[in-house]
Amino acid sequence: MSSTSSIGISTIKPFCRILISYKGSPIFGVSPHKHKFKPIYQRCYSRSRIIVPKSSFSSNGGALCVSGLDWSQSRNYSSISRVHNSIKGSKRGILVIPRVASDFRNESTSVEAHVNDKSFELIYVQGGLNIKPLVIENVDTGLNIVKEQENRVEDLNTSVIIDDFTGLYERKNERELTEIEKEAWKLLRSAVVNYYGAPVGTVAANDPADKQSLNYDQVFIRDFVPSALAFLLNGEAEIVKNFLIHTLQLQSWEKTVDCYSPGQGLMPASFKVRTVPLDGNSEALEEVLDPDFGEAAIGRVAPVDSGLWWIILLRAYGKITGDYSLQERVDVQTGIRLILSLCLSDGFDMFPTLLVTDGSCMIDRRMGIHGHPLEIQALFYSALRCSREMLVVNDGTKKLVAAINNRLSSLSFHIREYYWVDILKINEIYRYTTEEYSTNAVNKFNIYPDQIPSWLVDWIPETGGYFIGNLQPAHMDFRFFTLGNLWAIVSSLGTPKQNEGILSLIEAKWDDLMSHMPIKICYPALESEEWRIITGSDPKNTPWSYHNGGSWPTLLWQFTLACIKMGKPDLAQRAINLAEKRISADNWPEYYDTKGGRFIGKQARLFQTWTIAGFLTSKLLLEKPEMASLLFWEEDYELLETCVCALSKPERKKCTRSSSRPQAS
Ligand code: GLC
Repeated sequence: MSSTSSIGISTIKPFCRILISYKGSPIFGVSPHKHKFKPIYQRCYSRSRIIVPKSSFSSNGGALCVSGLDWSQSRNYSSISRVHNSIKGSKRGILVIPRVASDFRNESTSVEAHVNDKSFELIYVQGGLNIKPLVIENVDTGLNIVKEQENRVEDLNTSVIIDDFTGLYERKNERELTEIEKEAWKLLRSAVVNYYGAPVGTVAANDPADKQSLNYDQVFIRDFVPSALAFLLNGEAEIVKNFLIHTLQLQSWEKTVDCYSPGQGLMPASFKVRTVPLDGNSEALEEVLDPDFGEAAIGRVAPVDSGLWWIILLRAYGKITGDYSLQERVDVQTGIRLILSLCLSDGFDMFPTLLVTDGSCMIDRRMGIHGHPLEIQALFYSALRCSREMLVVNDGTKKLVAAINNRLSSLSFHIREYYWVDILKINEIYRYTTEEYSTNAVNKFNIYPDQIPSWLVDWIPETGGYFIGNLQPAHMDFRFFTLGNLWAIVSSLGTPKQNEGILSLIEAKWDDLMSHMPIKICYPALESEEWRIITGSDPKNTPWSYHNGGSWPTLLWQFTLACIKMGKPDLAQRAINLAEKRISADNWPEYYDTKGGRFIGKQARLFQTWTIAGFLTSKLLLEKPEMASLLFWEEDYELLETCVCALSKPERKKCTRSSSRPQAS
């Protein structure tokens, strides 16, 4: 051990505790300036605590703040953490021979080639860590149950890392920043949350005038993504790595909502760093990470998107920094598999889409998006594509990889085929025959043509189209949801032609979707009776406000990414220019209200971090298109060859991929 002189571990159920002490410190005998300590986790269904004396905390009771301490320069971590940290260099303590589920990192789509590779036997850490591979059952049924054979166990090697990224990539600001960008960076940095002195995330909002912060003082998983990308694109990887590792720890948290325990792979919606007195010890305080899995959230909504975002960010971290050692770590691999086990488990579902409750994503209130909302499907598809690239393939995972491939194929088929609408498709629905009982039904979901809303008849442009918001039996939600459509482009969930169609619809409907402030979260708003019934008369989601047709500048970065992918950076620039006119002057609001996005949102927080970070990330993506290209996917032709919905009975036809195949434009 280099800096810590003794570690005492006491496990007191239900919390596991780790005590770090420092010989000779005024507190423990040494100056914290010279001896940097890091939290070390106890990997179990419990809290990990580090006991430090009260005097180490800032007077306001906030995060540990040691002036002059530059964590980013630290090399002084324990030999335990070095085992994981130094994977790239000679300091590496455990040999991990990685084989990822596909060679996408090297632009290949081959999966099976790896599965049969003898060297897979070498993939697992040779007795180095106490984590057992997962066992996958029921793969032959097409949907998998992934079971963890044993609990993820104590792994002292998962301490937070302050890595030396020097030489990995140097991408600090290369040009003179505009005044607005300078302000944005300052605000973004002031939103950073530290945990034991190391940056681990950014608060959702930092509005000084905010009297009731609710949970906006927490680090939201989804909100942190644009912050993470801004930092990564600016050459600052440490905060992202710490975030990924800490949130991974939270995945194993003991979580109960009214005596019910959600799946182990669930990632929290948000977490907060709390400074609390150590039980029965008035002299010592401790910092704890306090996650919210939905049990405290308004409406008790399930954060289904958190795990998906975590996987997406993990891949982005590897792609942008070139540091793949993080995703190759055994605990990280287990984390990916646990998330997937939740998503791929068998249920009553008839569709390959994920079945979720209302408010399970960015729209985290009742908005009539329960069922199979597009946003979740697009993030699910993206997370599956990420996982396929990152999963180490061995005997324990090859079936999971096969299941991922099957799901990718069936999911893209389903979305391309049944969610897509353009003028021709709407006309087809308009003429649908209903009540068809047969496997050959054209109107498979028994959609009644009267469901076509009157606004859509006029709104749908001659060219282009979009993926509808949701599909259920006898129900098509025709609202345009921006995030899902953008991620369909980014992940190639849509065909190239559909992806082009989405952007051309956005262009054609610029005044509706962008207007004074990009971008509408959905279009159109629910009004009158619909608003009353569907939102439950939600006073926050009144028509053209907040989730109900409000304009969210944070969506700008995802629009920019989609535009870059489709070769239309000018379109992104146009939207950025629009935002730039107002967001700084308006103090970076969370959202805007009214049909044209002219007013700062009724209850919008100011200095909303993902508004700030979304703006910076958009700028950085445009500036570094080569980096942007690491964050999106092209069509995967191998997936198209697999038709997983081939039906076995002779009278039943195999489904055809022809309509979901890319067509010449
Ligand atoms: C609101 C948004 C949600 C976001 C949170 C924190 O609840 O609906 O998407 O994560 O605020 O900004």
